[in-house]
Amino acid sequence: MPKVLVTGGCGFLGSHICEMYRKKGWDVIAYDNLAKHEFARNVYMKPEARFHNKKLLESMGVEIVVADIRDKDILMRWADGCDYICHTAAQPTMTMSWEDPVLDFTTNVIGTFNVLEAARKYNIPIASCNSVHCYGPDKINSELSEELTRYVKSPVTINESEPLLQGVVTPLHASKSSAEHYIQCYIDTFKIKAASFRLTGIYGPNQFGGEDHGWVANFAIRNVLGLPLTIFGTGKQLRDILYATDVAEAFDAFYRTQKPGIYNIGGGEKTMISLLECISLIDKTTGKKSDVKFDKDRFGDLRYYVSDISKAKRELGWEPKVLPAEGVQKLVDWINKNENLFIKTN
Ligand SMILES: NC(=O)c1ccc[n+]([C@@H]2O[C@H](COP(=O)([O-])OP(=O)(O)OC[C@H]3O[C@@H](n4cnc5c(N)ncnc54)[C@H](O)[C@@H]3O)[C@@H](O)[C@H]2O)c1
Repeated sequence: MPKVLVTGGCGFLGSHICEMYRKKGWDVIAYDNLAKHEFARNVYMKPEARFHNKKLLESMGVEIVVADIRDKDILMRWADGCDYICHTAAQPTMTMSWEDPVLDFTTNVIGTFNVLEAARKYNIPIASCNSVHCYGPDKINSELSEELTRYVKSPVTINESEPLLQGVVTPLHASKSSAEHYIQCYIDTFKIKAASFRLTGIYGPNQFGGEDHGWVANFAIRNVLGLPLTIFGTGKQLRDILYATDVAEAFDAFYRTQKPGIYNIGGGEKTMISLLECISLIDKTTGKKSDVKFDKDRFGDLRYYVSDISKAKRELGWEPKVLPAEGVQKLVDWINKNENLFIKTN
């Protein structure tokens, strides 16, 4: 059976990739320093929540390596002999990127560079996570009009040729785009089989969420615990949210096809939902009304993103399956089952 190295394997998305490959019978290594950056500002997580995904993966027979992607020698040692690298380790939040730009740069740029070097040295295919933060907010935000519960845009979807870094950019925009430039460079120069996935908002079980990363989980957890939630801006911000197992399957689709390049990976038009609409869906799912507060818009926020996923469909044969009603139900079920991981405090 093949062997996969999942960087950030104990994170939200990484844990779903590990689980998918264990179910296929692969040998799986989750390589994670357990930084779990959401703990820095998430008041509702108990300390033991940090180890939830790690314990879950151990129970499935995943090999856990507690190590840092910035440590190239250790990373190289674990990559040797692997058949595939799924790179999900990251500093993923905008706020932490300006509070600690060194952490952001070293993790997202140097870390990704090290992972690419491992892929080059051992000739291993690799798929890596970018995010819609590579676009920058100004151009897309300027193209929107407002309806009652959502921002709208014509054309509705955005494809991979959308210009990058438009307008005001934060260190996260810069680090995510730089990493992707290196991926393109390693594809062109060293002919490695690499993909950069521009991921929309992802959600699902094993996600602890927060105000600046993982907003669907943040809203759902707060609803279940009876805690207030804050919307920054109007709440009409729109995303084509994507359920975690669909993203895991996109990683597998790349392994099977190995067509290098940059891919939008999102739910597309079928899963478009605004923050206000998502809160209504969560309320309907739990039967409880969310306690919603509003605050002003945040610096650097992109108000709208809906992926044109036709390239991923065409080249990778991938398309998402889970619609928001089903995915939110599964997320809520997971929160209810794991209420012991959360503190009911604001
Ligand atoms: N969750 C989303 O909605 C979303 C949206 C777009 C893009 N992404 C991207 O997908 C990827 C995964 O996101 P996630 O939500 O699973 O994040 P996550 O924070 O849940 O997982 C990342 C994991 O990486 C680990 N990690 C961080 N720094 C590390 C380092 N230096 N060495 C080793 N491990 C390290 C963390 O401990 C964590 O377990 C990230 O690149 C993120 O930017 C996520």
